[in-house]
Amino acid sequence: MVKKEWGIETLVVHGSEGIDKHTGAVSPPIYQSSTFAFKDSNHGEALFKGEVTGYTYSRFGNPTEACLEREMAFLENGEDALAFASGMAAETALIMTLCGVGDNLVSSATIYGGTHAMYKTLLPRFGIQAREVNAANLDELEATIDDRTKLIFIETPANPNMAIVDIQSCARIAKSRGIPLVVDNTFATPILQRPLELGADLVIHSATKYIGGHGDTVAGIVVGTKAMITRIRKETLNHIGSCISPFNAWLLLRGLKTLAVRMRRHCSNAMRVAQYLSFHPRVKVVHFPGLKFHPGHDIARSQMSDFGGMLAFEIKGNREDAKKFMDALELCTNAVSLGDCDTLVCHPASTTHSSYTSEQLADAGVAEGLIRLSVGIEDPRDICADLGQALRAF
Ligand SMILES: Cc1ncc(COP(=O)(O)O)c(C=O)c1O
Repeated sequence: MVKKEWGIETLVVHGSEGIDKHTGAVSPPIYQSSTFAFKDSNHGEALFKGEVTGYTYSRFGNPTEACLEREMAFLENGEDALAFASGMAAETALIMTLCGVGDNLVSSATIYGGTHAMYKTLLPRFGIQAREVNAANLDELEATIDDRTKLIFIETPANPNMAIVDIQSCARIAKSRGIPLVVDNTFATPILQRPLELGADLVIHSATKYIGGHGDTVAGIVVGTKAMITRIRKETLNHIGSCISPFNAWLLLRGLKTLAVRMRRHCSNAMRVAQYLSFHPRVKVVHFPGLKFHPGHDIARSQMSDFGGMLAFEIKGNREDAKKFMDALELCTNAVSLGDCDTLVCHPASTTHSSYTSEQLADAGVAEGLIRLSVGIEDPRDICADLGQALRAF
C-alpha cells in the first residue's frame, strides 16, 4: 500500500501503485502487444465510441505506457500524463494541439537547440510563429504576448548555459493573460523541481535524459490536466502517431526506481566539479546555478531542492581550443545528450546549437568556447582529474 506522505525517494521506488495486484509482480509487466481483443463486436464499438474505457490499439494507448504515464503524473503532481517516442515528439504534439495557422507562441530564447530549430523550420510551414525572448526580462516577455499567443514555453535550468527562469513570475503573467505556461523540466526532473506546484500548466520532459538515466532510450512526456492531456492524445498524438513503444516505457519505469538516488549523486558531483573548475586558471567562467555568483542562483534556490547535474564552462580559448580540450578527454565522453550515469561533454556551438547564427548564439548566451558538461555518477575525483589533464592540452 503506497502512502502519499512517504518521501520522494520512497515514492519513486514503489511507484503510485506498488506491487501488481493481479500477479504480485514487483516490476511492471511489458505488454508487448500492438492490438487488444474485444469481448465481442458491441464491446469494440463501445470502445471506439468512447462509451467504455479499455485498450484497442497501441498507438492509442497501451497498459505499460499507461503505467508510465500514471507514475509521471504522480511524481509531477499533475492529473494526467502522455508518453511519446521522443522529447521533440512531445513538444511538437503539444504545440500542434494548442496552436493553429496565424497563432504564435512566446518562448525563452535560451532553450535546447532542437526546440529552436523546430521553431524556425517546422512551425512556419504550419503558419505558427515562435517569438523568442529573454525570459529573465519579464517585461519583455509580457510585451511580446498578443491576442494570438497560445502558449508560453520556458526551459529551466536551460540549455546550454544553465540560465534560470522564474517559474512563478511567468505563471503569474500566463494566468493574467489566460495562456498556458509550459515548462521543460528535463534538467531538473520532478525530484528537484515541480513546475505545476509553482503555477505552470504543463510540464514536458525529454525522458531520454535523467528519467531513463542510462543512455539507452529516446522518449518524451507531457504532464498536465486530464482535459488537456486528453486533447493532446485525441487531437494530435493519435494522428501523428509518435507514441512510445511498450519496451521503452518499461525502461523508463525501471529508470524511475533509481531517479532520486541518481539525482542526489549527480547534484553532489556537479557541485564538486563546478567548484574545481571555478578555481582552474584555464577556465574563464563556470555556469552552474549552485554557485553563488550565478545570476539565477537565488531563483534556483527558491524553486529547486538542489541545483542539478548539469553545468557549462568557458575555457580561456577559442573554438579550436575547445575542440582540442574535448579530444584530450579520457573518462568523459564527447557526445550529445545528458542525464546518463556516464559523464558526457559537448561543444554546443558546433553540435546541439549549430542551427543558431552567430547573432542568435550571442543572444542565447552561447559562447564559441562554451563546453556543456552532464556530470555523471562516477567518482568525482576521477571526473575532475580527467578535466584537469584535458585543460592542459591546448
Ligand atoms: C531540455 C531538452 N528538451 C527537449 C529535448 C528533446 O528531446 P529528445 O532528444 O528526447 O527528442 C532535449 C534534447 O536534448 C533537451 O535537452
